[in-house]
Amino acid sequence: MGLKTSEEPDLRNAEDNLISLEHRTEHRTITKQESHTVSEKVYIFDTTLRDAEQTPGAALNFEEKLEIAKHLAKLNVDIIEAGFPVSSPGDFDAVKRIANEVEGPEICGLSRVIEKDITAAWGAIKDASKPRIHTFVGTSPIHRERITRTSPEETLKMAVDAVIYAKSLSDGHADAVVEFSPMDAGRTELSYLYEVVEATIAAGATIVNIPETVGWTVPAEFGQLISNIKANVPNIDEAIISVHCHNDLGLAVANSLEAIERGARQVECTMNGLGERAGNTSLEEIVMAIRTRRDYFGAYHTNINTKEIVPISRRVSRTMGIPVQPNKAIVGANAFAHSSGIHQDGVIKQRDTFEIIDPSDVGWQESQIILSPRSGRNALRHRLHELGYETTPDQLDKIYERFLVVADKKKAVHDADLEAIMRDEVRSIPEAYQIEHIQIVSGTKISPTTTVAVRTEEGVFEEASTGNGPVDAAYKAIDRIVKMPLTLTDYRIRSVTEGKDAIGEVTIKVQDNGRMIVGHGASIDIIVASAKAYIDAINKIVHLRYEG
Ligand code: KIV
Ligand code: ZN
Repeated sequence: MGLKTSEEPDLRNAEDNLISLEHRTEHRTITKQESHTVSEKVYIFDTTLRDAEQTPGAALNFEEKLEIAKHLAKLNVDIIEAGFPVSSPGDFDAVKRIANEVEGPEICGLSRVIEKDITAAWGAIKDASKPRIHTFVGTSPIHRERITRTSPEETLKMAVDAVIYAKSLSDGHADAVVEFSPMDAGRTELSYLYEVVEATIAAGATIVNIPETVGWTVPAEFGQLISNIKANVPNIDEAIISVHCHNDLGLAVANSLEAIERGARQVECTMNGLGERAGNTSLEEIVMAIRTRRDYFGAYHTNINTKEIVPISRRVSRTMGIPVQPNKAIVGANAFAHSSGIHQDGVIKQRDTFEIIDPSDVGWQESQIILSPRSGRNALRHRLHELGYETTPDQLDKIYERFLVVADKKKAVHDADLEAIMRDEVRSIPEAYQIEHIQIVSGTKISPTTTVAVRTEEGVFEEASTGNGPVDAAYKAIDRIVKMPLTLTDYRIRSVTEGKDAIGEVTIKVQDNGRMIVGHGASIDIIVASAKAYIDAINKIVHLRYEG
């Protein structure tokens, strides 16, 4: 079966596994025994391609879905809910292609408890090495009365028949599984919910998902619901309990964490917390909560490759056209940005004074120190050092005065502003290499070729190279001359003046021996500006390596 492997012990009954939890005592002290002999796996079921794709305006095309699915596999999610195959021929084809091409995770197709839906779901996923049919029906009174217009008995029968039909289709496949969801479980009468869960497990569902479809319950209530299901459904140990929480009250992650503590071992979630209305449980938050708070959640782990979190978050945001809010936990632009002087000073002295996660663990390059009027001398000195400038205390005092003048006028002081200050205040870095001239041959039907001539103490050297665009070609030509190939980690271009003949300023970041070096270049020709930025970074490295 898809979910369990021989190396992963089935520990669903392992509450007594050394976890001593004094929860919510009078003084609200929470203590857990820190050493856990075993840690149970929490399966990560990603529904970015199904629930998040239902976000208004977020529809993805075929290729985009496939690309995201491949990245979800790199992230190492356990299950990808690839779509709702009956909903459109396009969705069917996308799910089928994902099932055929994406290796690693189980591939799941959603279906209502309707024969044609289940047939379509199976048709789309059957070629996956680990296929899963996920069938659902609303079980709350309001869903029964207003949506399916069925009695409790009829709803129960539809659910059971659907699971039996899904099982019958998938029976020939050794690793196929059926998941059932009583939609709006949070508002379903308890005794009826137990009955539905028991009957669908008896019919063959090996995963029962408890959807908090409208984000109604609060953590203690939702956790209690999971405990109640464990205590009152006689065959519950034949299935894995999953949870699927929506964020209408901002509680989706909290509800999911509470559910894990009460016995859930699968969490349905999405990248960036996208999804219907206020969204779903955010994958990055649930995974990092479990990992970061090992002291508290040490009895559980996920298999997520956390370094892939930021890259896939950006991809999802870009392809769905939904920007990530800057203060979003883990993946927001400000998640590791420090603005107040006290925080900046602390982080420079020791990162974990104000950071509970190492940004590189989730795929960020570094913490960000945002220079503003609130920044102190230490933050300024640190940034200048990163830019390749070393300053004496006297110089720093003078530079800090000028910095404050600029900072008072702007919200944030950028590297280019600092460079401008530094050009005036301190002797600039010696230019071991200077661009002599550049020639570009580019067009729609030819490979871009850039020829660069660079002046050094030994004379002028010229090289030509093709590349993925004229900038790449220019960098390759420079690499041939300088023989110090660099890892480019960031490239940005902005116009510093207005109009068609605007000056373009290029800022690049390169890595050298674990140190980030920033290079700048400005010109009305963006290829020239790009080459100047690269040479600027090289000159800084030469200075730091040999004279710094
Ligand atoms: O929110 C929900 O209830 C769902 C189901 C289809 C699981 O998305
Ligand atoms: Zn949902």
